[in-house]
Amino acid sequence: TPLNLETLKKEAALRAVELVQSGDRVGLGTGSTAKYAIEEIGRRLKSGELTGIVGVSTSEASEKLAREVGIPTETLDPRPLDIAIDGADEIAPNLDLVKGLGGALVREKVTEVQARRLIIIADHTKIVGTLGEKAPLPIEILKFGFLSTIERLRDFLPGGRLRQPGAQPYETDNGNYIYDAQLPRDFNPVELERRIKGTLGVVDTGFFLGMAERAFVAAPDGVRELTR
Ligand code: A5P
Repeated sequence: TPLNLETLKKEAALRAVELVQSGDRVGLGTGSTAKYAIEEIGRRLKSGELTGIVGVSTSEASEKLAREVGIPTETLDPRPLDIAIDGADEIAPNLDLVKGLGGALVREKVTEVQARRLIIIADHTKIVGTLGEKAPLPIEILKFGFLSTIERLRDFLPGGRLRQPGAQPYETDNGNYIYDAQLPRDFNPVELERRIKGTLGVVDTGFFLGMAERAFVAAPDGVRELTR
């Protein structure tokens, strides 16, 4: 049931927050799992278990939540982050990820690439054998000329569509659109990432390759810790 999944997400989040140390600059992820990590960091700051934490948010939503739970935040600067904690939409056995169903992929990638440790938290439904098994690959594209960009992407990723939950296309925090691409059955993630990013009009993709250090994946029989 959905209630149980929420419990699992929280269990994974609590394990990750145990790795946060006082004084850390922490990348704050986005989504329904990362939310529990942000809340726990706030709780530990209030109780005094953690001190001197500074958060760097990966979305407007996480920034708002961080403020609500009392985590001081600052914008991203060139210094490394000690740790970042975030959810994912798909986790492959080598900890390659697909992210961005929540729409925050570009800020997440720009932030988390600077993290000394990227810790992924998820319930067990996010585990896949191969990326693309369950989720589409979100690709953030410029609003300007988006139909032309989608046509260029459809040349090699034909199964996909502009994310449009209502009357208007979904707009990211960066004011861009998202093309949700169905991944082919057989592909090399590094090569496909390069090809997509070489496509005019593309900002970035939801592939997070070789970035995650470990993942806490919660199942009904306990939390598994996966490393690369
Ligand atoms: C946000 O853009 C995504 O990358 C999220 O990290 C991802 O969608 C996971 O979200 P949930 O924890 O809500 O599944």
